[in-house]
Amino acid sequence: MPGTELFGEEEKNEVMDVLNSGVLFRFNHDAQRQGHWKAKDFEAEVAKFCGAKYGLAVSSGSTAVNTMLAACGVGYGDEVIVPPFTYIATIEAVLLAGALPVFAEIDDTLCMSAEGIRAVISPKTKAVLLVHMCGAAADLDGIMALCKEKNIQLIEDSAQALGGSYKGKMLGTFGRMGSFSYDFFKINTCGEGGVVITDDHQLWDTAQQFADHGHDHIGNNRGMEQHPIMGTNFRIGEINAAIGLAQTRKLPYILAQQRKHKAIIQERLGKIPACSSAATRTRPATAPPSSTCCCPARPWPAPPSSCSPRPVSRTATGTTTCSTTSSSGTM
Ligand SMILES: Cc1ncc(COP(=O)(O)O)c(C=O)c1O
Repeated sequence: MPGTELFGEEEKNEVMDVLNSGVLFRFNHDAQRQGHWKAKDFEAEVAKFCGAKYGLAVSSGSTAVNTMLAACGVGYGDEVIVPPFTYIATIEAVLLAGALPVFAEIDDTLCMSAEGIRAVISPKTKAVLLVHMCGAAADLDGIMALCKEKNIQLIEDSAQALGGSYKGKMLGTFGRMGSFSYDFFKINTCGEGGVVITDDHQLWDTAQQFADHGHDHIGNNRGMEQHPIMGTNFRIGEINAAIGLAQTRKLPYILAQQRKHKAIIQERLGKIPACSSAATRTRPATAPPSSTCCCPARPWPAPPSSCSPRPVSRTATGTTTCSTTSSSGTM
């Protein structure tokens, strides 16, 4: 039961606050807004739920990833390690940042593996952009140890994994920054929206400037604000944020429902011989109930050897040639 099935009075009341005040913009207009700061409340609610210090609500899960890459200094000439099994937004964000996405193999977690990442690290690697696919956590112990060893920053595209956890800690809080999608198909939705979380105030500050044309948001006169950096418009509007706020408050209930349904599906699948091992297999290193989707570990047979992945090859100049096949990275 995702949030889209649960629109009720709570969402309507939050939206009416915005319409009654008439302030659809997330900044300024202090006197007119009658105390309603929906974007600020929304991002604070998500950060609090995740146990992160700072949150930033933006216009989508895609622009959230763009914002993280910008704040983390990813740009032209950099390589970013990404999974081939993800939604295309992850890859687009890297290309839009002017960087090169480099695919790493995934494993039974459905996410990139530490070994897969290690195999494609180069001197140009600026970041690992980890995706917790279908609400399931990656092997964070292994991946974090590798990032520390190689001094590479970890960024989490947790668009699909709001409320998922790894060893009791919320997904999205392991890297320098994490992000969630609030599009119509996610566990919480506000139609279109996204949230970035981080514990690093400097990263948050850069992110909130980048997502609003570089505005420093100091003072109460938007026209007189400074623009220390260049940015763009990735702002969320107050109406979307109002819905996101109401939905986030329902998250504990939604997660409980999702996990109840997941358990039922796993129990039923377990009775079907062809599905039973996948349905009942517990992924190591992940304390249940952590993931939010019914995400049986690798329910398909291993591919024939003719389909085995071609490793990424590198030229002497460090140019990357991406593999064209991936045993585990295709749906
Ligand atoms: C892994 C991942 N990243 C980013 C996005 C983009 O989110 P949005 O649709 O809110 O732009 C999605 C959306 O499905 C996603 O699954």
